[in-house]
Amino acid sequence: MEVVILPGGRPIAVLAADAIEALLKNKPDAVLGLATGSSPLPVYEELEQRHRRGLDFSRVRAFTLDEYVGLPPGHPGSYREVIRREFTGRVNISPENVHGPDGQAADVPAACRAFEEAIRAAGGVDLQLLGLGTDGHIGFNEPGSSLASRTRIKTLVEQTRRDNARFFSNLAEVPHHVITQGLGTILEARHVILLATGAQKAQAVRDLVEGPVAAICPASVLQLHPHVTVLLDEAAASSLRLADYYRHSYDSKPRWQGL
Ligand code: F6R
Repeated sequence: MEVVILPGGRPIAVLAADAIEALLKNKPDAVLGLATGSSPLPVYEELEQRHRRGLDFSRVRAFTLDEYVGLPPGHPGSYREVIRREFTGRVNISPENVHGPDGQAADVPAACRAFEEAIRAAGGVDLQLLGLGTDGHIGFNEPGSSLASRTRIKTLVEQTRRDNARFFSNLAEVPHHVITQGLGTILEARHVILLATGAQKAQAVRDLVEGPVAAICPASVLQLHPHVTVLLDEAAASSLRLADYYRHSYDSKPRWQGL
């Protein structure tokens, strides 16, 4: 796991966008794994600017991580709608190349299997962007999630509903259930870039990077992945014991290595 501590959200966005741009240069039909929430928004803005300068997404395939159960089509809080509004609709990714779990499926287990199958059929995710919940969740794999889990329905913890209430008109409107890629699903992405900013993420970052691998911090399962990049601002990195070592490693790393 590589931990990169940067002065703020903007350099984080630039570095993540550099990795995506480098991937698309090598593989124009790459499969991107997209997160919603606040953390990736500066990355999406940076990619939109690069698209205006010529970065082409026309052959990109994209899979979102998760979706609320039961929101009506077009609901502004639905992750299908959020990802279209914040990113895929602002660059030239064809709508038919954007896939997400079906939060309205009558047969949820069948929809989850179909989603997993669609990821497999696309050849797997090349680069997965992740945010981090204050309770250590990735996707909507809340504490206690099986470290081997696949796409399935989950119940949100109340803190996550409160954290996300800002995207709805009130807390009561935030669904209790979601469909999320499992931790086992996320681990199959070839490169994972996790973004975390702000002091409210510091404890979860510490548990993710330096804690034991344990279901109480689902993100800690990323310690088992061979290619994870964790991009942090100073506040999110403030509880890390080895922060100086991570800074030194990144500063002295051969530039040809990239992320
Ligand atoms: C979003 C997702 C969540 C968020 C996490 C952090 O698709 O899967 O895991 O990444 O809740 O959210 P923000 O970035 O809003 O702090």
